Amino acid sequence: MIISVTNLKGGVGKSTISQNLAVWFAHQGKRVCILDTDMEQRTSMRWAGLRGSTLPYIAVFGVESDQIIRTSAKQAEDYDIIIIDGTPQLGKTALATVMASDMVLVPITPSAFDMWSFENFLNRYQEVKEVKTAKDIPFKAYIILNKFTGKTNLDKNVLDVIQDFDMGVLETKIGDRVAYRECPITGLGVVEMKEKKSKAEIEQLGEEVLTKIKNLHS
Ligand SMILES: Nc1ncnc2c1ncn2[C@@H]1O[C@H](COP(=O)(O)OP(=O)(O)OP(=O)(O)O)[C@@H](O)[C@H]1O
Ligand SMILES: [Mg+2]
Repeated sequence: MIISVTNLKGGVGKSTISQNLAVWFAHQGKRVCILDTDMEQRTSMRWAGLRGSTLPYIAVFGVESDQIIRTSAKQAEDYDIIIIDGTPQLGKTALATVMASDMVLVPITPSAFDMWSFENFLNRYQEVKEVKTAKDIPFKAYIILNKFTGKTNLDKNVLDVIQDFDMGVLETKIGDRVAYRECPITGLGVVEMKEKKSKAEIEQLGEEVLTKIKNLHS
């Protein structure tokens, strides 16, 4: 199963959600790898370098944009779950990332929601969807609200706006919490940490994504 976490907008939580979902799947006994497509920042590669050796292993590979489709298909022979941590750049990386995926997760943060980048992303997604649908290949995309409180007007506006797009919205919403900010410096996922709210969110997210995976073929 190849899942990408991508959006053309930077800093929306692509790497945070990729790593936390990867950790959750690893704790379910799945063989998990992350493909880090951001060869400049290498956020997920650096995170993996900090992970303790006693924790469930998550392989992280850096991958150039022209190798995303080939590498993810190849890793699918060895891993149950391949998570592609996307880059914010428009262009062939974004297209290849979506093309390579069975499922696309699109994090959005209400405070940084940007119609321009989202609509551009949506156009890419629709191009790929048409190609995959014509070939009868199961393919789904879902928005995940990140750094979401539900309390501000901005949060409520975003909820309204995204209902109009041709993309599902996950039930699980991720709050703005310190625990997520600690992941890049500890190499952990929040399910391995003490903070209960973030842990519950990622457990819910994992279960929800797993259900979507099971329904992908139906
Ligand atoms: N739910 C959250 N609560 C608090 N902080 C968060 C949350 N999600 C992400 N962050 C923080 O926001 C910053 C950006 O997150 P992240 O690096 O995951 O985004 P990204 O989309 O991968 O960014 P880029 O486009 O640069 O790759 C990081 O400092 C991260 O720790
Ligand atoms: Mg990132």
